[in-house]
Amino acid sequence: MMYRLARPLLFQLDAEDAHNLALRAATQLASWPTLARWLHRFVSPTVSPVTVAGLAFPNRVGLAAGMDKNAVAPLAWWAFGFGFVELGTVTPLPQDGNAPPRMFRRPADRAILNRMGFNNHGADAVALRLSQFTRPPFPIGISVGKNKDTPNDRAETDYAIAAAKLAPYADFISINVSSPNTVGLRELQTQEAMARLVLAVRAVIGAKPLFVKVAPELTGHDLHAVLDACLANGAAGIIATNTRAITDPNGKPCGESGHPLRELALERVAEIRERIGTNAALIGCGGIDDIASARNMIAAGADLIQIYTGLVYEGPFLAAKLARAVGATPKF
Ligand SMILES: Cc1cc2nc3c(=O)[nH]c(=O)nc-3n(C[C@H](O)[C@H](O)[C@H](O)COP(=O)(O)O)c2cc1C
Repeated sequence: MMYRLARPLLFQLDAEDAHNLALRAATQLASWPTLARWLHRFVSPTVSPVTVAGLAFPNRVGLAAGMDKNAVAPLAWWAFGFGFVELGTVTPLPQDGNAPPRMFRRPADRAILNRMGFNNHGADAVALRLSQFTRPPFPIGISVGKNKDTPNDRAETDYAIAAAKLAPYADFISINVSSPNTVGLRELQTQEAMARLVLAVRAVIGAKPLFVKVAPELTGHDLHAVLDACLANGAAGIIATNTRAITDPNGKPCGESGHPLRELALERVAEIRERIGTNAALIGCGGIDDIASARNMIAAGADLIQIYTGLVYEGPFLAAKLARAVGATPKF
């Protein structure tokens, strides 16, 4: 209700300005632990915790990567009732990302287009920030990526540097090879490159679970090759999916999220579950913004789900609503 009133005002703003405003509000909330705990007590769902990849999740609904790239407000996401958060994507060195405008709403079909390009403060700054926070009582994942100027044949060095710096503050690490907004990044989605990347990151994060986030367009034999390489070399699970690659209103490449991604992401989750069986974890993401879409993702084989675009259209209390709904759903 409150968000229904605020949304028209937020939608008057440029999409990235509205995002920054929301993030500032979340940062404020996170700086008041008493208020955060109070809010958590009121909104967080009472559902049974689930264990996935050896970690205990208070509920199945997480914040997807990209919303809190620089780890400014983990406590706020917990306060709103999320069961986990994936921070980042963080690269070894800070970078500005692509020139604005680089985020667009398409309200008619509840979509967002973005071509952010891994804008983030870099692994040292994010690690420092996390070292100064009280850790909220839910799993924190950190997504790592490579800097724009690092060639793909040296990508594993970047992933390993970022992962080594951030792992002390993470419950799990995820490797992002599926953003459409870093030129050539998706070419790392091959058997050979994934084996190298997973091994390199595995070597620096100790026993912590490792996830790999894949693109929705990766399918069939190519998808199987990537899944097999990831799991054979020590990944605990897969996150599916990232945004779909399309072009923005100015004809530039970007990623599409929200409703138009929903069916594709759902198909991919089912295809991945079929291939990996029950031995690996699966996080479903893409176009989830109501109870039916959340339940469908779990029914397709996801252990956990994540949301981003749904928050923009439905507001932050969506997390608790979905967590309540899928908390009650038997797994398969
Ligand atoms: C503005 C924006 C920035 C994003 N940045 C990242 C990112 O840094 N790393 C990542 O793995 N995914 C990123 N994503 C993708 C989301 O995590 C998610 O996979 C995708 O949006 C599909 O979920 P949704 O339909 O619920 O938004 C971003 C998405 C948006 C809209």
